[in-house]
Amino acid sequence: MSNSGNGRFVDGARLWESLMEMARIGATPAGGNNRQALTEEDRQGRELFRAWSETAGCQVQVDAIGNLFATRPGSDSAALPILIGSHLDTQPTGGRFDGVYGVLAGLEVVRSLNDLDIQTRSPLIVASWTNEEGARFPPAMMGSGVWAGEFDLAETYQTRDRSGQTVRDALEGIGALGASRAAPFPLKGAIELHIEQGPILEDTGNTIGIVTGVQGIRWYDLTLIGMPCHAGPTPMEGRRDPVQKLPDLLPRIFGLAAENAPWGRATIGDLISQPGSRNTVPESIQLSIDLRHPDQSVLDSMHARLRELVSELSGETVEIRLEEIWHSPAVAFDPGVLNAIQTAVEITGHKAMEMVSGAGHDSVYVSRVAPTAMIFIPCQDGLSHNEAEYASPEDISAGCNVLLNAVLSLDAH
Ligand code: HGY
Ligand code: MN
Ligand code: MN
Repeated sequence: MSNSGNGRFVDGARLWESLMEMARIGATPAGGNNRQALTEEDRQGRELFRAWSETAGCQVQVDAIGNLFATRPGSDSAALPILIGSHLDTQPTGGRFDGVYGVLAGLEVVRSLNDLDIQTRSPLIVASWTNEEGARFPPAMMGSGVWAGEFDLAETYQTRDRSGQTVRDALEGIGALGASRAAPFPLKGAIELHIEQGPILEDTGNTIGIVTGVQGIRWYDLTLIGMPCHAGPTPMEGRRDPVQKLPDLLPRIFGLAAENAPWGRATIGDLISQPGSRNTVPESIQLSIDLRHPDQSVLDSMHARLRELVSELSGETVEIRLEEIWHSPAVAFDPGVLNAIQTAVEITGHKAMEMVSGAGHDSVYVSRVAPTAMIFIPCQDGLSHNEAEYASPEDISAGCNVLLNAVLSLDAH
């Protein structure tokens, strides 16, 4: 860590070591991480973050949805806090950097300010939001969404995973059912540092993404309902086999992205056959659908088109039902916080570009409450939500240096 000119710099080696130590929790044989929300691995990750934060002089609080807030006091007790953070939970076959980078970079900012003996006017809060991924318990960005008032706490508590366990029981099970209310508190500003999770920075040779917003996201459960029968004696004609509907349906779902290229996205990440027996024609097939577009009006037209094609294809033999389970409208981030990030980019001298995030982030909901923006660094081959996810130590340090200097710039104004 150093303090040259008007820039301050973090201890990149210490940050890298913290990332690698955290990555040992929920490590997978293929080199990724499986620290799904509210599991034993999540509990261990939370405990490690809490211990590190307390060692760095922070006071750690947990709210009613399990969000962790590590607070470093500021010099001005009347000043609103600045929040920096992300999430520690991962996808089932996630990487070592998605989310955790933003949390531990926030901690590194605290550690570096301690080393530099700098006290900001504003208190600094390093946040780790519960269940950003939404992989085990939908929707995504659950903890930040409850905190920002987007999701009702009581309803969220009753959300169940595939085993039938509720969010509330899972929170209690890992000791994360915090005492403080999961409700927004005023902030001067919020910055989230994250890997890009796409190829743009790498393809354009930029080290830093100045993230001006997040694209819109809509999640659905689509269910095709047929009639179960014996795979042997039942003649092919006359079956009500939901799988036979897929060749009509799937090209039209992916067509929603193709018709709105290059930014339209359509993903079927999960496909469940019931009863799931190879010698029984399925009763139902459930697909998860994830639609995205940076332009809200285009996303809304994709939404309308999906509903139309479902009603066109639903019929007597196989009924198709569509349930929208989550909608995160496109978000534009705060110009003031973006200026602080731009200033930090100039101080640190990294090549940077403005961009919109393809992935959802907790900052979507934090931006409902406070002036918010994000910083990206590249990830190798643009790969994420994959065990091979990788970011270089140089880029990891560069992003954290921009975060540190953006926080100082925000604090100074
Ligand atoms: O779905 C997303 O974009 C985020 O990774 N939760
Ligand atoms: Mn993430
Ligand atoms: Mn993710």
